[in-house]
Amino acid sequence: MKKLSSRLGRLVGIGFTSMVLLNSCGNAIPEETEAAAVSDKAFSVEEVLEMVAIENDVTRTLYTKGIVGAGKKQGLKFDEDWQEDKVEAGPLPALFLRGVSSSIRKSSVPLGLYLGSDYPINASNKFEGKQEELFKKIKQNQKPQFFYDSSQKLHTAMFADMAVAAPCVNCHNEHKSTSKTDWKLGDVMGATTWQYPSDSLSYKEAVGVLNAYRNGTKDTYNAYLAEIAAFKDSPKPAIGTVWPSKGFNLPTAEVFIDSVRKLTSYKSLEVLVKKGASVGMIK
Ligand code: HEC
Repeated sequence: MKKLSSRLGRLVGIGFTSMVLLNSCGNAIPEETEAAAVSDKAFSVEEVLEMVAIENDVTRTLYTKGIVGAGKKQGLKFDEDWQEDKVEAGPLPALFLRGVSSSIRKSSVPLGLYLGSDYPINASNKFEGKQEELFKKIKQNQKPQFFYDSSQKLHTAMFADMAVAAPCVNCHNEHKSTSKTDWKLGDVMGATTWQYPSDSLSYKEAVGVLNAYRNGTKDTYNAYLAEIAAFKDSPKPAIGTVWPSKGFNLPTAEVFIDSVRKLTSYKSLEVLVKKGASVGMIK
């Protein structure tokens, strides 16, 4: 009985600490955790990149459907050149991801993030070499691919980027620079490539990776809201708790991140709990 309750205690410990990391919008990194006590480098780089890729999937789908898809119906505009002074629009999904990626690059976390394809709109997003080769496998089975890029000395993971919403397909098929016009819902349109220099991470480093991604989302979303605040000729949506599906509104960065958090926490928790089992914390 004692054994069982201590195991449960540890499980709750993991659940609790992961809630802390998932609840923090960036700043609060738990210092002491049970997981850290078990092993200094508790996570393999693959596991951490898998967790941050889940977060990215949720963020990207929510942004594409909830902001771009619903926002367009309300008259909001999204544009490749959204950051140019004369353009009064928000970032396209791919540029939102690029914003997150450059925010991560400015942080102290050595995490790289790119979005590529075999039939890109932007030729510079075309996969080459090893990544091109592995992307063929991803298209076949949609399974993540991992390899060590010895030229860059970086552990690399690639995850399918799926046509999860109608705007993905419509915009790509109709785009003036597209290299493919028959994308369908459910297609593997590309892959996100993630890179990290070491093969294992401490609990704190793993939390750092997730927080860097989440801060990147916050920065990029806030850059969009700042763009709106500076609109001169276009109407400005109300910014608050209401989403564009309910009218001419946009959620604040906090409301947006909060939804991402709710949608990811169960999946990330599953990974952490599995981790607990594999290091012998839970049997
Ligand atoms: C309103 C238009 C629009 C929507 C919606 C959109 N994209 Fe894109 N996407 C673009 C543009 C434009 C680029 C090229 C951006 C650049 O310059 O890197 C791009 C880039 C990409 C790339 C990198 C390869 C390439 O084509 O350059 C992938 C993969 C991709 N998008 C997938 C998706 C998926 C999946 C969705 C839905 C979740 C989506 N896109 C939604 C316009 C769009």
